[in-house]
Amino acid sequence: MNHPAELSRRRLLQLLGLGGAAAAASLMQGQASAGAGPGPLGFKPLRPPLPLPGDGLSAAQQRGQYRQLTLDDRLLVPEGFAAELLVVWGDRLAGGRFGFNNDYLALTPLEDNRALLSVNFEYISPQTWASGYGEAVGTPLPLAALQQALAARDGSVDASALPANDPLLAMVRQVAEAAMADLGIGVLELQRSNGSWRRLQGSRYERRIDGLTPVRCSGPAAAVFRNPAPLGYRGSQGAGLRGTFANCAGGTTPWGTVLSAEENFQSQVSEAVFADGSATAPSQRPFRWDGTRLDGLGNPFGLPGNHYGWMVEFDPRQPRQVAVKHSWLGRFRHEAVAVVARAGEPLIVYSGCDRHGGHLYRFVSDGRVSTPSDPANGRLLEHGRLEVARFEPGGSGRWLVLEPATRLDPQRPSHYARFGIAQPTLLPHGDRRRSGEQALESDADVDAYCQRHSTLADLYPVLGDDPEARLRQQGAILIDAHLAANAIGATAAARPEDTDIDPQTGDLLIAFTAAGRGDGGGADPAIFRGPAGQANWPHGWVMRLGDGGSARGARFSWRMEATGGTPWQGGLGFSNPDNLAFDPAGNLWITTDRSSSASLDVFGNNSCWVLPRQGAAAGQALCFAIGPIDCELCGPCFDADGRTLFLAVQHPGETGGTRQGQAVEAQAHTLVDRSGRRFEQLRWVPLGSNWPSGVPGRSPRPGVVAISRRDGAQWLPGTN
Ligand code: FEO
Ligand code: CA
Ligand code: CA
Ligand code: CA
Repeated sequence: MNHPAELSRRRLLQLLGLGGAAAAASLMQGQASAGAGPGPLGFKPLRPPLPLPGDGLSAAQQRGQYRQLTLDDRLLVPEGFAAELLVVWGDRLAGGRFGFNNDYLALTPLEDNRALLSVNFEYISPQTWASGYGEAVGTPLPLAALQQALAARDGSVDASALPANDPLLAMVRQVAEAAMADLGIGVLELQRSNGSWRRLQGSRYERRIDGLTPVRCSGPAAAVFRNPAPLGYRGSQGAGLRGTFANCAGGTTPWGTVLSAEENFQSQVSEAVFADGSATAPSQRPFRWDGTRLDGLGNPFGLPGNHYGWMVEFDPRQPRQVAVKHSWLGRFRHEAVAVVARAGEPLIVYSGCDRHGGHLYRFVSDGRVSTPSDPANGRLLEHGRLEVARFEPGGSGRWLVLEPATRLDPQRPSHYARFGIAQPTLLPHGDRRRSGEQALESDADVDAYCQRHSTLADLYPVLGDDPEARLRQQGAILIDAHLAANAIGATAAARPEDTDIDPQTGDLLIAFTAAGRGDGGGADPAIFRGPAGQANWPHGWVMRLGDGGSARGARFSWRMEATGGTPWQGGLGFSNPDNLAFDPAGNLWITTDRSSSASLDVFGNNSCWVLPRQGAAAGQALCFAIGPIDCELCGPCFDADGRTLFLAVQHPGETGGTRQGQAVEAQAHTLVDRSGRRFEQLRWVPLGSNWPSGVPGRSPRPGVVAISRRDGAQWLPGTN
């Protein structure tokens, strides 16, 4: 039993003394629904682990009902609803298997109540992957032997330096191949009968694009990949690209294809590049397996790091068509994507870079859309320009173009110092013979840098006089988009995650998961401020951005539409908004992405919420689902009539591992009722997860569920 820091051990013991184990059985359960009746959106909202302004309780009732709480290792949905497991890690799929840590979901309708479900597989949670692999896949892996062999090397090895006949190399490759087979993208077919969606196994549309499947690249980066004389590493396969991994969120296009975002690729391959966009050697990101970390998966295959961090397009209806990485959309830690295709206008694609200090980008095509649903629109992604957002305080901003002529104007460290934050300016390394970044600590250093380099062309020069030299220059800027964007003064944002277009207004909605500091910098405190002006608000926002058109350097307006956090701090009751989706009635759905160790804090497990568009509950956040222990709910997606919400349950048990027996820990949290009075909550939290089996001692597994009313009825007002 642990006792978290929020309360002294003595206070926790006092709380436990209120009833201990005997009382635990009668504690309020997390799935209790708030209020009576179906609720404003056709469901009774769940009660999350903390009181909300809209929960219908008086201050005294809030204190009484929230004094004790038991969390569940289950996926909780509202009364009258059921969550059906559609597919789970390890299920056979297209000659391979349904991968690990399912994330983004896209539903592509077919005829006759059938649909294709495209699924991203983001990363490996080492503990639960290792413990569940035998059962999920059916063959053993030499994980213990490899861990032992690597222990003398501090857990990691540069496989490229091992002799071909070294048995360690064979073991590394076996484990890395197994992990790569669990990443990437999958497509499967569903059929709806009697109101329920089920998988149609063996469909001709089934497909796996994994971490090693051949793919292709469009746009200027392709010229970098085929450069015969790069400054850095080229890779043994030449310009050929293999695989996609770190596939986080995504989006769909009006012409029916799916976009899949490569996010934290830097865990598997080296991120830093040279001035010509070429990669650093795979030895920069060695393979690691030490029982708690499994990364550097690209190392044993010699994968060049500049081949990853892209937006991937594929057509789920064309299983034999090669997936394509569109380099005009930039290389960064892509979270997700929103596409605007209006007849007669350029195509616009928005995407965020999910790192502390990451940027918001938009691609604008050279060509114009004729018919939004025309598959030929995919070609528009092959010529255009990439722009990045510079936010201004007060709700305005403009787009900066990532092209050679753009002048450098980086944010100075003094900007952050005004908010009491020491934040160096991170720029492409000033010695252009070196790869990666340089941290400049003072305004004087930044000024001196800008005197040496005045435009992006100075940082990414034309190298060579062959016909592709200028294309490679643009390619290098796109490959190094994050640092190039820093250099021209893009705003360091608060982990921009999902982006979605409001179907009724055309505005862009952006989930900003959290302000804070990381290896890429930190959010600009002039823009990203908590309800009381906090510079590092950790609970996130949803921003509404009204774009001012597709012209170069267009302006935009912005405002925060929703703020995460506890109600008593000015938040809506959820924390860390991540994925966004609009339902057919135009309500905005949000899933949260709180680090799995955050199950210790007041917000409890990751969850799914809706912000009603109109009616009495507009302005509130209603809780629709709460995930099992240590999981994240991802990829919210509705079927066409809004009866079914699909959710990916990612990384259950990631921190606590497999739940043994009925293991729980007691937690104590300080809450505040609606009158502003503080009170203590005793909370029982399962240790680890057995989701979805629910069988004690059995490994948890990621999987996808379909949630609908048990009676199959329509429930969302405004849909039919
Ligand atoms: Fe993969 Fe930003 O979450
Ligand atoms: Ca995410
Ligand atoms: Ca989305
Ligand atoms: Ca995530």
